[in-house]
Amino acid sequence: MDALRDRLHERLTPFDQHHVLAFWEELSDAKRQHLAEQIERLDLKRLEQLHRCHEVPEDWSALAGRALAPPAIRLNQIAPSIAPQDAFNRGQQALSAGQVGVILVAGGQGTRLGFDAPKGMFAIGPVSGASLFQIIIEKILARARVARMRIPLYLMTSPATHQPTIDYLRANENFGLPEEDLKVFCQGTMPAVDAQSGRLLLADKHQLALSPDGHGGMLQALSESRCLADIRRRGLHQLFYCQVDNALVNVCDPLFLGYHLLSHSELSTQVVAKRTPRDKVGNVISVDGRLRIIEYSDLNPLADDVVTRRAADGTEIFWAGNTAIHIFNTVFLERMVRSGTALPFHVAHKAVGHLDPSGQQIEPERPNAHKFERFIFDLLPEARQAIVVEVDEAKAFAPLKNAPGEARDTLATVQEQMIALHREWLEAAGCEVDPGVAVEISPGFAQSAQELAAQVQPGLVVTKPRYFC
Ligand code: UD1
Repeated sequence: MDALRDRLHERLTPFDQHHVLAFWEELSDAKRQHLAEQIERLDLKRLEQLHRCHEVPEDWSALAGRALAPPAIRLNQIAPSIAPQDAFNRGQQALSAGQVGVILVAGGQGTRLGFDAPKGMFAIGPVSGASLFQIIIEKILARARVARMRIPLYLMTSPATHQPTIDYLRANENFGLPEEDLKVFCQGTMPAVDAQSGRLLLADKHQLALSPDGHGGMLQALSESRCLADIRRRGLHQLFYCQVDNALVNVCDPLFLGYHLLSHSELSTQVVAKRTPRDKVGNVISVDGRLRIIEYSDLNPLADDVVTRRAADGTEIFWAGNTAIHIFNTVFLERMVRSGTALPFHVAHKAVGHLDPSGQQIEPERPNAHKFERFIFDLLPEARQAIVVEVDEAKAFAPLKNAPGEARDTLATVQEQMIALHREWLEAAGCEVDPGVAVEISPGFAQSAQELAAQVQPGLVVTKPRYFC
């Protein structure tokens, strides 16, 4: 063990990080091993560079000033360059050919929601109580049934959500998804460092303060978990990507797939028209002829005249809110994995609990640390062709983010949106739903107003809460 300590010391000292061995003498062999493994996985040089570079952050104000509204396939276009029916058919064809898989990112810790378990386990169904995982998996299965083809799911977790997710899915028999169509893979972590000194923080005497490396960690994790090899082996050409928090995500939407394919896009993004300039969504923009996303946390602090800027034709520059629903062409994804360094790290200034040099636990009230995350959408400017497709928020975007009491993206608002959409489908099929009555349609029953019309009798009156499944 002394040899191990010496080796670690030698590795850490040039970067002035050897303080993480301060409690070495007190640790059991198993705990020493645990700490050693974490240290050996660190890229200390990169960390040092990140800490230094943070002193010259991206100039969001300059970028926002140069931004143009992104070219997009908008809702209700008068003369669309691609006819929606052609796009839908093309998307359906790709699904029927078994060329499409799903990536679901579920590694976040749901801090804002105040829910300790993985967010996918949150019971969101307004009548059924179905969880986000259940709803999303049922959407995949329904799409696969219509296409008469299997659609595999690659589900990304993080160290905190990995085992609970596996246990939950196993206990629920994967909600019907065959075992061979589900691959759960875990993303990597990044250490938190003291914001002033750049020194690593200890969460415990044998444990660095680590957190998930952002959904951009997906690239490395896909490759290291051999999911990429599986994607290749199965001959998948496109991967539909979404976040676990969106209860209304239209999984493998054939129309979106079709636009992506007919445009020869490498990376496509669904957007919604923002309700207000400072909505808490990423902003899809065009800069120097390339698409990019500026996060709300970077745009919102800027002045009104920047955030509300309009083009000469009156279009708002920052109208396109990122739903975090994408389609990746798999050749593009592989190219990005091989290139390795395509994704930059974003630095977040956060309060991170840690041990002080005497081993006392400190819980800072104010941000004391830097955390590093990669965002998958930073691949956008790398794509040779990338498109933006607008969808109606009421039909496709209801993310669960916040604890009760906030104005939007809470359990109550998401359920309201689900009920409103399903009520609309029932009414379009000639049914009546009494005012205030909750209705919910399982994805296995119908995935659209059209599918529902084939399943229910016109004239049906719903007088009490009902789950159509
Ligand atoms: C995110 C997008 C934002 C978009 C919005 C739509 C980012 C940085 N921003 O914002 O542009 O408008 O969603 O809802 O993503 N996750 C991981 N691993 C991680 C971190 C996150 O898997 O290390 C997953 C989470 O489980 C979640 C998703 O990524 O499914 C989004 O993370 P979250 O922190 O909620 O992002 P938002 O700030 O809401």
